[in-house]
Amino acid sequence: MVISIRNALFLGSVAHQAAAQCSQASNVDLTWHAPNQTNINNLSFVVNGTGSEGMYNTSITPATTAYSTYNWCNMPHVRRQEYPTAPSGYDLVYVELIHRHHKRTPYASNTFPHETYAWYCDNEALFFYGAPRPDGTSAQVAWQVYTTDSNPLAPQGFNGTCQFPQISGAGLNDSRQHGKDLYGVYHDLLGFLPSSYDASKITYRVTNNVITSQVVGQVIEAQYPTLTDQNVGVAIQPDSIDSLEPAYTCTASTNLYASYSVGSSAANWTLHLNDSVALYAKLDSVSGVNTSDSGWHNWFDHYFDNLSARLCHQKPLPCQIGNSSNCITQADADAVFRRGQYEYSFIYRDSPSSLPMSTGSFGIWTAELASNLRAAINGTNSTIYRHNVAHDGSVSRLLSILQVDVMVWPGMGSEVVFELYSKGGCYYLRTLWGGQVLRSSNPSLGLVDMIPVQTFLSYIDGLAGVKGAKIPGLCSGS
Ligand SMILES: *[C@@H]1O[C@H](CO)[C@@H](O)[C@H](O)[C@H]1NC(C)=O
Ligand SMILES: *[C@@H]1O[C@H](CO)[C@@H](O)[C@H](O)[C@H]1NC(C)=O
Ligand SMILES: *[C@@H]1O[C@H](CO)[C@@H](O)[C@H](O)[C@H]1NC(C)=O
Ligand SMILES: *[C@@H]1O[C@H](CO)[C@@H](O)[C@H](O)[C@H]1NC(C)=O
Ligand SMILES: *[C@@H]1O[C@H](CO)[C@@H](O)[C@H](O)[C@H]1NC(C)=O
Ligand SMILES: *[C@@H]1O[C@H](CO)[C@@H](O)[C@H](O)[C@H]1NC(C)=O
Ligand SMILES: *[C@@H]1O[C@H](CO)[C@@H](O)[C@H](O)[C@H]1NC(C)=O
Ligand SMILES: *[C@@H]1O[C@H](CO)[C@@H](O)[C@H](O)[C@H]1NC(C)=O
Ligand SMILES: *[C@@H]1O[C@H](CO)[C@@H](O)[C@H](O)[C@H]1NC(C)=O
Ligand SMILES: *[C@@H]1O[C@H](CO)[C@@H](O)[C@H](O)[C@H]1NC(C)=O
Ligand SMILES: *[C@@H]1O[C@H](CO)[C@@H](O)[C@H](O)[C@H]1NC(C)=O
Ligand SMILES: *[C@@H]1O[C@H](CO)[C@@H](O)[C@H](O)[C@H]1NC(C)=O
Repeated sequence: MVISIRNALFLGSVAHQAAAQCSQASNVDLTWHAPNQTNINNLSFVVNGTGSEGMYNTSITPATTAYSTYNWCNMPHVRRQEYPTAPSGYDLVYVELIHRHHKRTPYASNTFPHETYAWYCDNEALFFYGAPRPDGTSAQVAWQVYTTDSNPLAPQGFNGTCQFPQISGAGLNDSRQHGKDLYGVYHDLLGFLPSSYDASKITYRVTNNVITSQVVGQVIEAQYPTLTDQNVGVAIQPDSIDSLEPAYTCTASTNLYASYSVGSSAANWTLHLNDSVALYAKLDSVSGVNTSDSGWHNWFDHYFDNLSARLCHQKPLPCQIGNSSNCITQADADAVFRRGQYEYSFIYRDSPSSLPMSTGSFGIWTAELASNLRAAINGTNSTIYRHNVAHDGSVSRLLSILQVDVMVWPGMGSEVVFELYSKGGCYYLRTLWGGQVLRSSNPSLGLVDMIPVQTFLSYIDGLAGVKGAKIPGLCSGS
């Protein structure tokens, strides 16, 4: 389906009309376009190749490696050293960014049945408390995780002190550095962010999963140190309709996902699983995971999370309990990582179903973004910076809707930034992914480098509807 910008636009104000007059009256293509062919989505390379592209065992990308290189433990983001400064004449008007939380322990569901190494979290504290208003005070209550020998359900031999999942101490440090790097560009370099925190200009937003709040506390601390130990409101939507996590119900999208990807028997999905029988046998023999447990065998997600969380925290790859000669090797781990990347590319980009699946399940957030851009253009909201802390499920759906040219599994801290510029009374959008300009396989978006903002708004309106009006319809049904 192709719609005309003129028809799609809501010309509600003089500012809107001015912005519309600035852009060409071209058609916006709302259809799916295949991503580039690379090793990531090349099944021969995935099942018969060796090694893994990028890094999985450190948060620090070595100075000898390009900063833009894929790093699962700490993905590249906007920072001063690599920031592509806009050409002169373009004035930055509004910034909205979204990033995945930083590195963490695994989810409980991704730990092996037989634990050989404990996860200790004594190098950090997680606070949970409430304070009545207007007095606003409380003891700073921190969780201290423990188990007892009288709790027969505690994992065997588990001595750890982490709440699965939680951002690790090192992941909190990465979060703080991420906040500093952004401030280094949007305040220090561009003078765009104010020097003191101003709630009428700056909004931080989190999801209902507490790990995003753990991250944003460090981001805010980094950007506005005067807020240390101070009360800061962060935006959050009710759990049942949270568009950022995303947590709202979208039955049609859930069903579509299940029809072509995880759990489906579609031939082009099961191909890579059937080609991985020997690898699975090896992994299961070490982990003790039941070979008929579908959660671990419908896709590589659980093994990927287990092994990468371990490597990112400099823990050794595991051996079978009681058999120290049967261990997961680096080659096995690389084989898991190649498959994980392939799966994310398949689910979110290679399959033509990826676009409707992601539009249904994340379209509301993109509609909110479009409204925020409009409000910044027509001056109806004073916010100049919205900072969203989210999940791989959020960032991968966004990249799916944007039709990024090369899809990857968004690693820890993965970031997409939308920058709105004005020039000569017209508005333009630039989108940065991993700190560099994003290229879309969709020809209407292409290299998202100062494209007329109307093109982007028409694309989002066309898919999700103005103010997300199409989403309830897209989500109902089978
Ligand atoms: C994807 O392909 C396009 C068109 O050939 C090319 O311009 C772009 O650089 C490729 N993207 C990456 C990340 O290699
Ligand atoms: C992997 O290599 C095997 C053995 O050479 C071959 O039979 C198989 O077709 C290859 N798989 C893919 C997906 O290329
Ligand atoms: C896919 O990978 C195989 C094995 O590395 C290689 O021979 C082939 O040329 C690749 N195909 C594409 C389209 O890049
Ligand atoms: C990290 O992984 C790379 C690639 O597998 C490997 O060369 C390097 O030795 C590893 N570093 C550590 C500290 O394990
Ligand atoms: C747990 O602690 C006990 C007692 O200190 C120790 O013997 C055991 O090896 C520990 N287990 C793990 C998995 O760290
Ligand atoms: C966090 O960074 C601080 C300052 O560099 C360092 O002292 C501390 O050891 C780090 N903590 C963790 C858990 O990595
Ligand atoms: C993979 O194996 C399953 C179970 O044996 C089978 O149903 C499916 O058709 C196979 N897929 C392909 C592409 O051969
Ligand atoms: C593995 O799971 C299957 C199906 O739930 C169950 O029948 C079987 O007993 C399990 N095997 C082990 C070793 O726990
Ligand atoms: C993965 O499995 C190992 C081995 O049983 C376990 O010790 C560990 O806690 C699990 N999680 C991670 C991220 O390593
Ligand atoms: C997978 O197969 C389905 C059904 O034949 C097809 O519509 C789809 O395009 C295929 N997806 C990919 C990524 O090849
Ligand atoms: C400004 O943008 C907001 C958000 O899209 C919209 O609700 C509002 O109607 C617009 N105001 C005018 C005057 O166009
Ligand atoms: C502007 O946006 C902020 C944050 O999203 C919101 O809290 C505020 O109510 C909005 N202000 C107006 C005037 O709409």
